[in-house]
Amino acid sequence: MTRLGILLSGRGSNFIAIADNIARGALAAEIAVVISNQPQAPGVAAAQARGLPTLIMPSKGLQREEHDRRVAAALAESEVELVILAGYMRLLSPWFVRQFPERILNIHPSLLPAFPGLDAQKQALDYGVAVSGCTVHFVDENLDHGPIILQKTVPVLPADDEHTLAARILVQEHIAYSEAISLISSGRYRIQGRRVLFETDIAGKAAQSDNSTHSTGL
Ligand code: GRF
Repeated sequence: MTRLGILLSGRGSNFIAIADNIARGALAAEIAVVISNQPQAPGVAAAQARGLPTLIMPSKGLQREEHDRRVAAALAESEVELVILAGYMRLLSPWFVRQFPERILNIHPSLLPAFPGLDAQKQALDYGVAVSGCTVHFVDENLDHGPIILQKTVPVLPADDEHTLAARILVQEHIAYSEAISLISSGRYRIQGRRVLFETDIAGKAAQSDNSTHSTGL
């Protein structure tokens, strides 16, 4: 069972979706600890209500790396294997990212590399795209930038405002994050440049090229 460390700052709906999937046996992982930098985050109350180990680690007044060192120590203490950013509204220091190489996942409410940063759904709407969605990706030292694990799309409808679009994307986020955690926990992937290749993809491609070799040969 992969031990997850959840970092959040707010509502926590992605965390709740992950916790629910674990509880009903749809995701083989366990939540080792939930850490929030915001004491009042609804996600904290939800974690406590589930009886999960929950830590509040306010970042106020601390240098970024100093706070990150404390968080990293807490994650290590809980023997966390995968760090899951679930609405964690803090930039991570390069030091923190280096502690967990290819072990930190984030979800972003757009089809990256379009619309990184804040208010991604409003950015998408203002830009006038016809399709948006969400992206689960590895975290590297740049904002919303690491290799993409998976994406899910939704249509942008004429009557949408940023709230209706965000709600449509959120439904997909709740599916995508657990899928991505499952894929990465399985270890059946490799990262080639920016591409995350899963064994099924690799096998599929090999089979395809085998077929074409055979058909050419025949
Ligand atoms: C989500 O839209 C996620 O994509 C973004 O922050 C939001 C967090 O929502 N990174 P929640 O706290 O999980 O409900």
